[in-house]
Amino acid sequence: MDISKFEHGQLEQVENLYTDTFTVSEGPDEGSAIGALVTDLVSTTNNADLVGFVASTGEEIVGCIFFSRLTLTTNKLAYLLSPVAINAAWQQKGVGQRLINYGLQYLQSQGVDFALTYGDPRFYAKVGFKKISEQEVKPPFKLSQPEGWLAQPINGGSVDDIKGALETVAAFNNADYW
Ligand SMILES: CC(C)(COP(=O)(O)OP(=O)(O)OC[C@H]1O[C@@H](n2cnc3c(N)ncnc32)[C@H](O)[C@@H]1OP(=O)(O)O)[C@@H](O)C(=O)NCCC(=O)NCCS
Repeated sequence: MDISKFEHGQLEQVENLYTDTFTVSEGPDEGSAIGALVTDLVSTTNNADLVGFVASTGEEIVGCIFFSRLTLTTNKLAYLLSPVAINAAWQQKGVGQRLINYGLQYLQSQGVDFALTYGDPRFYAKVGFKKISEQEVKPPFKLSQPEGWLAQPINGGSVDDIKGALETVAAFNNADYW
């Protein structure tokens, strides 16, 4: 299993990975929606505001994660981890945790202060995320599942440092994702 930075030439393969993975876990509508989100995210986000990582075995990409820049009201640097997909045949083998830990180490090396995500707290707790308050760290839309609003400091500091409103990159500026 190799982990490397996502490159634009991998977009078609990665879109298919997200579509297939979420079709298996959530159904075909969600699969298509997340595949389209990934293409939108990669196509509309400045290179400086987006970084992705892929897990591959030879020619096949079996997992992918993206981090996109958040704009905070404080001067802290934060990225949103989303979306995350591990091919169904490769789930429950540690690939998701390895990929996320690799990405967090990269962000730490770049001086990023915080990582946030919105997902299943039982999984993301395994890679250091803890619940945060929607009232204190304000997402762009009201959350349908506030228990999934999560963050971690990756260069010291406390979540108190990111209290206030935040903005995502354009691709996440859609109430359906929240
Ligand atoms: C969720 C997902 C990213 C996890 O990746 P993975 O490689 O399968 O997970 P890992 O093997 O690294 O970790 C497995 C551990 O996480 C737990 N876990 C995995 N998915 C979970 C979930 N959805 N809810 C709760 N726990 C979960 C497992 O129980 C296991 O715990 P254990 O080690 O105590 O037995 C992957 O299953 C996936 O892509 N699922 C479909 C798409 C999806 O849900 N994406 C995330 C959206 S928030």
